[in-house]
Amino acid sequence: MKLDAIIAPVQSELKHFEQHFRRALRSDVGIVDTVVRYMVKRKGKRIRPALVLLSAAASGGIDEATYRGAALVELLHTATLIHDDVVDDAGTRRGWPSINAIWKNKVSVLLGDYVLSRGLLLSLENEDIDFLQSTSTAVKRMSEGELLQIQKSRQMNTDEETYFRIIGDKTASLLATCCEIGALSATRDEQIVDAMRTYGETLGIAFQIRDDLLDFLGTEATIGKPVGGDLKEKKLTLPLIHAFQNAPSSDRKRVIRALKSGVRRKDIKEIVAFVQKYGGITYAERVANDHRDRAIDMLKSIPESEAKRSLVALADFVVARKK
Ligand code: IPE
Ligand code: IPE
Ligand code: MG
Ligand code: MG
Repeated sequence: MKLDAIIAPVQSELKHFEQHFRRALRSDVGIVDTVVRYMVKRKGKRIRPALVLLSAAASGGIDEATYRGAALVELLHTATLIHDDVVDDAGTRRGWPSINAIWKNKVSVLLGDYVLSRGLLLSLENEDIDFLQSTSTAVKRMSEGELLQIQKSRQMNTDEETYFRIIGDKTASLLATCCEIGALSATRDEQIVDAMRTYGETLGIAFQIRDDLLDFLGTEATIGKPVGGDLKEKKLTLPLIHAFQNAPSSDRKRVIRALKSGVRRKDIKEIVAFVQKYGGITYAERVANDHRDRAIDMLKSIPESEAKRSLVALADFVVARKK
């Protein structure tokens, strides 16, 4: 199913969310306004606010707090991407030059902090304390995950267990928060909130495995960001970790040498072939599908609704997406 069709039940609510999102970013400092305007024009898929809205709808209903939650998570996500492109030295995002490519790292670092703080203030002003609790945990996990990833890329020794810790922290934590916040805005039933949260966390793992696959299989034209970027940054992701386990040491050493000395375009092709040959792609696809199934399983206790069906479809979408 296409993403548009999946989020159709909350389409008008997403429009309303856009207003909250933009309003939260207003500033009378010229440079902030300029960069923010550039940024809000280049929209992402809006998966996180859609998750908040759908989780709320599936748990009892959407209200004003749900919109604030949706704005909060997308602000946080935006801040993270601005910082991430500095950390990863990425020149494109969403098919356009990244903010660091245009305004340099200094502006990106400070703007990322600005966007994050506006999200936190939005919750604080409305005393959404439970949202802040969940979000702060996600922020902590995201930074820790990113830092662990840097530590491991320096050591070049990521194993599967560490890989799952990294992606759980840097990506799944926020998706878990989206679903938790959505549910919290609609119900106090702890069983529902827990089920939603775990759905989001599991979905997040599947989402990031797919993202890592796209770094091997995608094209910059479709994914809107550099391909092979993970290899350039010496990030060992699931397809490669698995191929390393299966490959004879001579092949493995050759790839490690290439990674260490910095990959070029032709190296990327060779490494993709290496990963294919030793089953890394099929394996990662299988693990992503397992997580999709587990995520869907978490929704068993949630009453049937149009929104719930969308959450199920979203799990299918994240493991099949091309961008
Ligand atoms: C990108 O997330 C960052 C990751 C966690 C991989 P998305 O793919 O949801 O980014 P946008 O918002 O649609 O650009
Ligand atoms: C995205 O991580 C940012 C976070 C999840 C914190 P990546 O660096 O893996 O994602 P892309 O590929 O740049 O979107
Ligand atoms: Mg990164
Ligand atoms: Mg990145």
